[in-house]
Amino acid sequence: MYDYKLHQQIESELAKYSVDINGKDHQFYIRLIANASSIHSLYSEIYGHHLNTEQHFQQLISTLITAYLNRTEQLKQADLDKIKKENWFLSNELAGMSLYVDRFCGGIKNLEEKLYYFKTLGVNLLHLMPLFESPKDESDGGYAVSDFRKVDARFGNLKDLMQLQKSMSGNNMHLMIDIVLNHTSHYHEWAQKAKEGDRHYQDFFYMFDDRNIPDQYDKTMPDIFPESAPGNFTYIPECDKWVMTVFHKYQWDLNYTNPAVFIAMIDIIFFYANLGVDILRIDAPAFIWKEIGTSSQNLPQAHTLLRLIKQCVQVATPGMALLGEAIVAPQEIMNYFGKGIYRAKECDFAYNATQMALQWDALATGDTKVMLAAQPILLQKPWGTSWITYTRCHDDIGLGYDDYMIEQAGYDPYQHRQFLKNYYSGNVEGSMATGALFSYNPKTGDARISGTLASLCGLEKAIEENNNEDITIAIRKILLMQSMSFFIGGLPMIFYGDEVGYTNDFSYLNDEGKSYDNRWMHRPLINWSKNELRNENGTIEQKIFSGTQRLLNIRKNFQLLSDHSNLNWFSPHNLHVAGFVRSANGKKLYCVFNFSAQTAYLTWFAFKEQWADKNLYDHWSERNYTIGKDHEFLIMKPFEFFLFEDI
Ligand code: GLC
Repeated sequence: MYDYKLHQQIESELAKYSVDINGKDHQFYIRLIANASSIHSLYSEIYGHHLNTEQHFQQLISTLITAYLNRTEQLKQADLDKIKKENWFLSNELAGMSLYVDRFCGGIKNLEEKLYYFKTLGVNLLHLMPLFESPKDESDGGYAVSDFRKVDARFGNLKDLMQLQKSMSGNNMHLMIDIVLNHTSHYHEWAQKAKEGDRHYQDFFYMFDDRNIPDQYDKTMPDIFPESAPGNFTYIPECDKWVMTVFHKYQWDLNYTNPAVFIAMIDIIFFYANLGVDILRIDAPAFIWKEIGTSSQNLPQAHTLLRLIKQCVQVATPGMALLGEAIVAPQEIMNYFGKGIYRAKECDFAYNATQMALQWDALATGDTKVMLAAQPILLQKPWGTSWITYTRCHDDIGLGYDDYMIEQAGYDPYQHRQFLKNYYSGNVEGSMATGALFSYNPKTGDARISGTLASLCGLEKAIEENNNEDITIAIRKILLMQSMSFFIGGLPMIFYGDEVGYTNDFSYLNDEGKSYDNRWMHRPLINWSKNELRNENGTIEQKIFSGTQRLLNIRKNFQLLSDHSNLNWFSPHNLHVAGFVRSANGKKLYCVFNFSAQTAYLTWFAFKEQWADKNLYDHWSERNYTIGKDHEFLIMKPFEFFLFEDI
């Protein structure tokens, strides 16, 4: 709704900065005026009754204008190009890799020399795990930030990062980094000042004089790391107060009821945007609003804040897409894409953690029914938004999908999850997986799963037992898992090391800053002579690397694989097999996956809803098939998949 007063306020703010609203800054001006009302109303929803609400709002507008003015001409041009493409990030040409710079190649500078590696593989987007300053032994893999603007000396410096971004963009590569929005390290300047008794900064956190309010919160807030960091509050002797620490004790939760916190953090978001970040991964957004009597996760105010961030980014730095790292139940995740008038106007991306976990579910059971039961919800993702699709990342695998999905498939939810945890931690007769349980909660019996893609697929054990047949099966499982996540719709994100089959790395146990967290077992230290084996015919590394490379290449050649909500599941009438069709402009790609350790036989009946009689070409095996009433069964080897195109 048009608001005269707001318009005048913005005009006068723009005048202060001499923004050229009728000339070169015209597009920015239009975006600002167009979004001003929604920015104001979202802001007021949260901060409208704050004592200094108007003063902070003005600060927000000036932060936004400054962010735009600080943006390089090159990035401003890239913004306009991306806007013209409309949802540039849905493209089938994008494929990413997530990596720790130090563990991958030592430092940011060395990464430049590795750009050829990504290019060879077919990766053109890098998610660099947290790079900003973080205390070595209390870092949570960089997710405990002590300075949001200073690159940690372990990786290099800000100049190196800017240089890398330049080289990447020159090579048509995209950059993704994190903003750790929910908390800071207790070594962050704000936390340090709060410890010293500074009231202004104590208000940046949830700090309390005694256990009274913390006890009330604790009643309904679950433990995130029940083994290594039980409870949600930590006593701080320096100031004799309790502070909220939902994750580790050294990660202090930021208090977003304070508008000064929001403005400080949006300024950091813009700082990252102006480094040339293409996708900003918002870490743990589900947690940013807390309320006594609730789980303090996924609250409506958290969504309001995310929408506010999105509207601001759209105005000042619109080329940067937002990924909300919410690893939450399937129904809940949909809300992160925005609802109502904010549909597709909150996070551009979310992780398809449900699909990821359900692929692991199907791989263990050989049964695709639970995966299929989840699809009606996952298909509700709004047009114009997308998933990050993946099989593994730096975190654990949680089994957070709904009980009814498991029940619908005919299993008991408790027993089913028990089985999966036992299976992947190698405690089921016949399981080849060598993962481990993460964050076991004795109160609830819950646990998540750690382990690399290769180890969970049985490669570690097969190598140990020197069993070639099992090695072949493990590689097939790895490629089955990857192919489903590359073709299902969304931006595939490979976790570094998985492209050459790294198995679990237990060296973390000798490092005090890591030994309490077994997620480090699947965050390998790259040994480049192992990676070189990708060039030697017949090696495990070569088989996995070239398979992954080929899959990405196929993906790049099919425009219909852009994520335009063009996915339809079909029922292969065989519970071991899952299949979907991706289609656009009259073209179709049928993707069929056998999750069973047995050969699967499909009759034409499996496809009758899709076609009557067809000649198909499988892009994966590079073979022709004919499927129809009068033809033989379609035979699928254990863990085999097809990528069929009509011919
Ligand atoms: C996210 C990160 C995880 C981290 C947590 C706390 O979930 O992916 O690694 O421990 O946030 O920052």
